[in-house]
Amino acid sequence: MRRITIKDIAKMKSEGTKIPMITAYDYTTASLAEAAEIPIILVGDSLGMVVMGYDSTIPVTLEDMIHHTKMVSRASKWSFVVADLPFMTYQINKDQAMANAARLVQEGGAQGVKLEGGRDISPSVNKLVRNGIPVMGHLGLTPQSINTFGGYSIQGRAYEDAETLLLDSLDLQNAGAFAIVLELVPEQLAAFISEKVSIPTIGIGAGPDCDGQVQVVNDLLGLDKNFIPRHAKQYTTLSKIIEEAFISYSTEVKHKTFPTDQHSATMDERILERLRSKY
Ligand code: KIV
Repeated sequence: MRRITIKDIAKMKSEGTKIPMITAYDYTTASLAEAAEIPIILVGDSLGMVVMGYDSTIPVTLEDMIHHTKMVSRASKWSFVVADLPFMTYQINKDQAMANAARLVQEGGAQGVKLEGGRDISPSVNKLVRNGIPVMGHLGLTPQSINTFGGYSIQGRAYEDAETLLLDSLDLQNAGAFAIVLELVPEQLAAFISEKVSIPTIGIGAGPDCDGQVQVVNDLLGLDKNFIPRHAKQYTTLSKIIEEAFISYSTEVKHKTFPTDQHSATMDERILERLRSKY
């Protein structure tokens, strides 16, 4: 089975096939996403929050991203792996963006990179694309700018903001981006942008009319019992299942009911006897 390409992703939009995308940060999760035939796996810098325990994506470094991208790309033979360029690894200039994106592809093994922002970063997007690196844009609520937004709220409700989002989307398309994530955008605006651009839009909290959807894997699996974002759907509640398993394990160890013969190995008693007689 050959790997999904950006041409396949473009074809999905033109044929009206919705595009599922999910985040993964390690080998095991990426193997399961691949087995479920999810065409795009995102090594999101959300790993800063859901894996590393930071309160935003801002502290995530390029080294963190390369480390996790390597794990995901080892698992993935078919899905298209996109890795996030983290905060301040592409905003300074085009050469910085180029050098750091190249590391995610060359060392991390990603097929493409994602970066946040519109017209400000489209010259960098264009440079990456011209040098052979597929780029996914990210507009709306861009988490690396959380300190300027002041919170995780819907973007683009006012006319000027909606127009900016549309113009940024068109600019990213013209710069050569192969897709754009729209995060926390009103569903009508996301639908309008999806109509106006020829590249796929991938929504998160942006309604059903985007060309695809992305979810953070921890949200979808219900791994955090205290945090369920409004835009997320829990398809299972792994936090409960895992916690129950941990409690059962701990109880069985304390009560000496684990391990049993089934989980242990034996040796020749005569060898043990020899050892006993000497010590
Ligand atoms: O980092 C991430 O997981 C993301 C998605 C929310 C789109 O950027």
